[in-house]
This record gives sequence, C-alpha cells and structure tokens, in this order.
Amino acid sequence: MKVAVVHDIPLDEERKEMIDAVVRALKSSHQVDPLPFDESFMLKVKHYDVVFNLSSSAKQVHVPALLELLNVPYTGSDPLGHALCIDKSVTKTILKHHGIPTPQFITAKPNEKVPEIDFYPAIVKPSREGSAKGLSRDSVVHDYDSLMRAVKRVWNEFSQPALIDEFIDGREFSVGIVDNNVLPILEIDFSSLPEGLERFYSYRVKHNYSEQTRYVCPAQIPHDLENKIKRYALSAFKALNLRNYARMDLRIRGKEIFFLEVNSLPLLVPEYSDITKMAKAANWSYEELVTKILNTALKF
Ligand SMILES: Nc1ncnc2c1ncn2[C@@H]1O[C@H](COP(=O)(O)OP(=O)(O)O)[C@@H](O)[C@H]1O
Ligand SMILES: [Mg+2]
Repeated sequence: MKVAVVHDIPLDEERKEMIDAVVRALKSSHQVDPLPFDESFMLKVKHYDVVFNLSSSAKQVHVPALLELLNVPYTGSDPLGHALCIDKSVTKTILKHHGIPTPQFITAKPNEKVPEIDFYPAIVKPSREGSAKGLSRDSVVHDYDSLMRAVKRVWNEFSQPALIDEFIDGREFSVGIVDNNVLPILEIDFSSLPEGLERFYSYRVKHNYSEQTRYVCPAQIPHDLENKIKRYALSAFKALNLRNYARMDLRIRGKEIFFLEVNSLPLLVPEYSDITKMAKAANWSYEELVTKILNTALKF
C-alpha cells in the first residue's frame, strides 16, 4: 500500500526523529513517504491509500477533516475526538459528565475577572497547550494573589483561557490505549529529582530532567486500582469519541484517581515517548506498535 506519513512544518528534532522512525517501521511492508501538511497537501494526498497522521496541535483536527472530505483513511481519531481533547477544560467537562474523576476546576477566560476559588493549592495551566508549555514552579498557587498572577501569565503568553485545577499532591501515571487494549500503566516518579525542583512535569522537568525522572512500567500498584484506572480509561476513550490510540495523564492521592488530561495524538518517539515505553512493557516492538496502529486505521 502507499502510505503518507503526514507532518507539520517546520519539524523540531523530536518530531523529525518520530517521522523517520515511523517511515522506517512501515517500509518493509509498504511504500511510505513523509508528506508535509502545506498548501499542496490536498492534491498530493489523493495518491495515497492511507495516511499516518502525525500533525500536531490544532492541525491534528485539520488533517483528518480534509481526509474525511477526500475519503482517504487515516490513523488516529476523527476531527471531533481531537477537538474535544485540544481544550483541557472541554475534556474535563465531558469526563465529569461521564463520572470519570478529574480534579475540580474552573476556567478563566482572558480579560474576565479572575475567579475566586476554594480549592488551594491549585495549578494554573494554559487550557490548549501540551508538552508542559506554560508550566513552572509559579504555576502552583496557594492564594488569590499568586493565582491572579499565574492566570495573567497564561493570558499574556498564550492568548487563551487558563485552566485552574485543584493541585493533586500524589503519584503520577499515564495510561495508553491502542485498539481498545489498555497498555501496561506507566508511573512517572519525580522523587529522585534534584532538591528544589518541582515534583511534577513543569517545562524544565519534562525537557531537561528526563534522565533523572524514573519511569516504571508496568507501574507497581494494587490490582483493584489498576483495573479501576483501566476501566476509567476505556470509558474516557469512548466518551471523548476517540479511536485507534490515545494516552491519558492521571494522578492518585491515596486511593482516589484523578484524570488530568487526554492526549488524542500522543507522540511516538522511539524509547522516549510514554506510549512507546508502554508498548515495550507489553512486549511489542516499535514496528509492531506502528503496524497495529496503521492496520486498525484501515478498518474504520
Ligand atoms: N491537577 C493537577 N495536580 C497535580 N499536578 C498536575 C495537575 N495538572 C497538571 N499537573 C502536572 O503538570 C503536568 C502537565 O500537565 P498536563 O495537564 O498533563 O498538560 P500537558 O498537556 O502539558 O502535558 C502533569 O503531567 C502533572 O505533572
Ligand atoms: Mg500531559
């Protein structure tokens, strides 16, 4: 088959590595080309049998929307699924409606009065970013003054609503789904980070301290908790209209589970990305992971 691996331009190092790896993984069975998402995309993509969609942020909606129009099958979720996950406040509203636990929250829209809250400490994040963008030590706030400052930083830097979430002080996990299979759960353990660093994925922890962060997969948690997380993850997948694959971040405080956010198009960088760590724990090679994703896409 002719497979187009669609990506945004420009590509950063991480994404370039991912595109190369996906192309390599599929090459033994298919004719595969990387295809940038630019003005000539609609004309070029018609010559392919299927698209591996690796575009990012807002474009993860645009690419499938155009492919629906052209009737070209593609990996990952459809436009609605991605749209519901791009904005964390929207995602959380749907999770809550379906009884999937998520930290209590409120959304602060630019230039409106910053709301008072009664759930300190809270964490303030841009509602529509990813990769820990906009997250620093100052994102965790203990009073109204620092809350106001954090919200205004989000407005100024990202021109979008700020999500104010109850800060869950606890263990952090990630759960991945491929084809309705929940992969082994991954724990992200921040306890061995140098003194003084945040015990959460702030921008600097995520991007500069991955070597000192401990990844444990499968996570060491009691069976009942593991099953509960898996059940919630599958209901979230369904509630958010997702298909093919996705990854969700969560925290646990005591026995309480809190889903933080859902990534409808998680990165697939070999070794580095969470979902590839989970696949490895399930004894899938990178090639198997990528092939499974592609093969399911052909059945939609
Ligand atoms: N409500 C919360 N309580 C505790 N930590 C949080 C909360 N929300 C986010 N975090 C921390 O911030 C990190 C990034 O937040 P997340 O919502 O996953 O956004 P991103 O899209 O940037 O990954 C999480 O992995 C977690 O470490
Ligand atoms: Mg996250």
